Amino acid sequence: MIFVLAATGSAVGLGNVWKFPYMAGENGGGAFVLVYLACIAVIGVPIMMAEILLGRRGRRSPINTMSELAAEAGASPRWAWLGWIGVISGFLIMSFYSVIAGWALAYVLEAVSGAFDGFTGESSANAFVGHISNPGITAFWHTVFSIMTAVVVAKGVKSGLEKAVRVLMPTLFVLLVLLLGYAINTGYFADGVEFLFNPDFDKLSREGVLSALGHAFFTLSLGMGAIMVYGSYMPEKASIATTTITIAFMDTLVALVAGMAIFPIVFANGLEPGSGPGLVFISLPIAFGQMPGGLLFGTLFFVLLTFAAWTSAISIIEPAIAFLVENRGMGRKKAATVIVGLAWALGLLTVMSFGGWGFEFEFAGAKKTDGFFDILDIATTNFMLPLGGLAIALFAGWVMSGKDTADELHTTQTGWYSLWRVLVRFIAPAGVILFFLHSLGVL
Ligand code: TRP
Repeated sequence: MIFVLAATGSAVGLGNVWKFPYMAGENGGGAFVLVYLACIAVIGVPIMMAEILLGRRGRRSPINTMSELAAEAGASPRWAWLGWIGVISGFLIMSFYSVIAGWALAYVLEAVSGAFDGFTGESSANAFVGHISNPGITAFWHTVFSIMTAVVVAKGVKSGLEKAVRVLMPTLFVLLVLLLGYAINTGYFADGVEFLFNPDFDKLSREGVLSALGHAFFTLSLGMGAIMVYGSYMPEKASIATTTITIAFMDTLVALVAGMAIFPIVFANGLEPGSGPGLVFISLPIAFGQMPGGLLFGTLFFVLLTFAAWTSAISIIEPAIAFLVENRGMGRKKAATVIVGLAWALGLLTVMSFGGWGFEFEFAGAKKTDGFFDILDIATTNFMLPLGGLAIALFAGWVMSGKDTADELHTTQTGWYSLWRVLVRFIAPAGVILFFLHSLGVL
């Protein structure tokens, strides 16, 4: 139960409420959502089981776990590279994650002050652009969030996290359902649902297809050792399959409810679904500005969103922290200061991407407008995480013996186990490779 809570805290975050809706919006909706859901089921779930399994068997930081398990299986010590790539991706992801979490923090104050009152599509969009184009302010909140994360990480992952997740995550979900109720009353609910669930593959660029795969990894916290670290705390008797499916289900549910709440508001207020990373911050305040009790609900919502981001951020940098503590004999405090400090500094590039240094470029058939932020996001989400996941699948499926993985999954080498093994050996790796080839235009 504690493992499920901690891992759900890691999985549910900005990815679900901020990233999923805007990416679905940029990529035309239904087709993106369909590819994303398929990736969760066929690639994400089996690889998540593999990553937890490796963590629990190794019981150390991802880098050490990989060298130990490689030695156990008589394979090359180079598998430790998988841990290294994870450490680097975590650091890169943290750099932009805390900037966006900073936006959520800033919006807590906006909500309390009643700034959302009487927001229209236009005034809300102006307020958002006004906020992000002031790098002094966004850098300030980015700093606050970085410090919040460093403090918790310095104390060790386990203290207090589960209790907070147990109460605050369900509350966030209740608020999303409340917004869903508001969305149904806008008269545009059917348009929102149609947009999200009626696939039109013509609207999906090559970049869009790859992003759907990448986002499946991002939203499940997969492919860089975060879930491996959590797996290393998992008790021997817990079932990896059941917990994985529970986590993936809850994570997907939160994203879909957020999407169904947001798009009707988008359409009702004449906003662009493809307006990018500001989508949630522009659409939801309109709702809070209009609904009864919106001051309270709006404030609570951004507090809880910050909290969800916080429990995710902790897991993003934990592989790096665990490595410094285990291999360099550093104290947790110092390790947290070093890693979060470096990620903070790199995060200033993301602050500036929205604060005046944004530039455009084209990637796999899509136009990107947010400069460094897009580069960091594409490099990690679309490439490093799926590559990490591919390596995890190959390791669990080909390097480890069937007997060892069956032992960890508490089963014999039959039935569901055979299905998992086929997925992890063939389907998931082939899937990732096909997505890569497709994005290069080969397919
Ligand atoms: N899954 C989180 C979200 O959706 C983000 C996250 C936490 C993450 N840990 C991770 C992403 C590890 C990639 C890798 O917001």
